[in-house]
Amino acid sequence: MEKLNLRDVQPVTMVKAPVAAVRTKTATVTSDWRQALPVLTGSMVTLRELRISDAASLLTMLSTEEVARFISPPPTTVEGFERFIAWTQRERVAGNYACFAVVPHGMDTAVGIFQVRQLEPGFGTAEWGFALGSAFWGTGVFMDGARMVIDFAFDTIGTHRLEARAAILNGRGNGALRKIGAMQEGILRKSFLRNGEYLDQALWTILDEDWKQQRVVWAARVH
Ligand SMILES: CC(C)(COP(=O)(O)OP(=O)(O)OC[C@H]1O[C@@H](n2cnc3c(N)ncnc32)[C@H](O)[C@@H]1OP(=O)(O)O)[C@@H](O)C(=O)NCCC(=O)NCCS
Repeated sequence: MEKLNLRDVQPVTMVKAPVAAVRTKTATVTSDWRQALPVLTGSMVTLRELRISDAASLLTMLSTEEVARFISPPPTTVEGFERFIAWTQRERVAGNYACFAVVPHGMDTAVGIFQVRQLEPGFGTAEWGFALGSAFWGTGVFMDGARMVIDFAFDTIGTHRLEARAAILNGRGNGALRKIGAMQEGILRKSFLRNGEYLDQALWTILDEDWKQQRVVWAARVH
């Protein structure tokens, strides 16, 4: 997903939802992700609900030119990020969207985000997107977080087709999608307006059956 939808939204009170958690092998899974996102623990990072206190860190991480170059413009102030975070909570409660903070082990604030939004009611087809502070590029953080978010989409919210859009000029974005096993289905010509210019985007997809097959291959490599 190319567009991050880091919208400048109106401030609202943060939603505080109860967590009914059960333990699984790699994650704490809530009974209903709309009430509270699960906390997903990987080898390098934890993915969790965004907190208002992540706003300053996200501003530092995501508003640099190199990060924001090929995504919808992120907020430009801490307050803008606070509004964005509050918006993510409302959209999660409404069942439209989930946004995870990426928190490397040993840290307690977000250095990036992974998000998933429904493209049709019920999330059968969904779109995902991601952005990390550039200090964390090429470190393995993307792969660690991406695997957990894709598992979440297929196993928890019931997606069967996960789409992503990346500007053709975005070498790292396309490289990351190829590496995670997404399939490039085509080019969406002049589909993304950035800095007054329409850019072509690649459409990348992962199907639930492809992902389950890939997990078997990865598991076989590890053991
Ligand atoms: C997209 C993003 C999260 C990926 O994280 P990352 O840590 O950079 O990703 P990785 O390094 O794990 O993977 C990127 C791959 O693309 C490759 N790559 C880098 N530049 C490339 C280029 N110009 N052309 C092709 N591949 C390229 C890398 O070598 C790497 O593959 P490798 O590990 O096999 O060498 C991160 O770059 C980011 O936040 N970018 C800014 C936000 C953004 O553009 N998000 C939307 C993406 S659609």
